[in-house]
Amino acid sequence: MKVLMVCLGNICRSPLAEGILQSKVDHLQLGWEVDSCGTSGFHNGELPDSRSIEVAQNHQIDITSQRSRKLQTQDLAEFDLILAMDSSNYADIIKLAQNEEQRSKVHLILNFLYHGQNRAVPDPYYEGGFESVFEMINQACDQIVAKYS
Ligand code: 4NP
Repeated sequence: MKVLMVCLGNICRSPLAEGILQSKVDHLQLGWEVDSCGTSGFHNGELPDSRSIEVAQNHQIDITSQRSRKLQTQDLAEFDLILAMDSSNYADIIKLAQNEEQRSKVHLILNFLYHGQNRAVPDPYYEGGFESVFEMINQACDQIVAKYS
């Protein structure tokens, strides 16, 4: 199973999502591949935001080996599950999909926790709230592991 976490900048939310799911995958020895990217490319090559690094560290998760990269068309072919943090990310991912099979891989991550509600992981870049972002992604990742493992 190959899972791709997607947000706008790939420096705040999706690096946390990658780190959280990777830690569960490691713990349970699931052998899944986990990656993250951004729809924008604004922060290409950058480390995660220091506030994401800190909140992850507080939960014994190291995300400092991650570097921001932009979503590519090829990602829709390569990954099995593509998880958007909000509806804007979702729409940008769907634009790159070339067929129904690819479209069917794309989901809002919080729909695994709150089925059918289309809730967003709020963008913490300006407003903060990194701990709350961590908690909601963590709960969603527990559901994802339960569903696919
Ligand atoms: P992210 O947060 O999408 O969770 O990585 C953002 C990071 C940077 C910007 C916006 C959102 N930005 O506009 O630079």
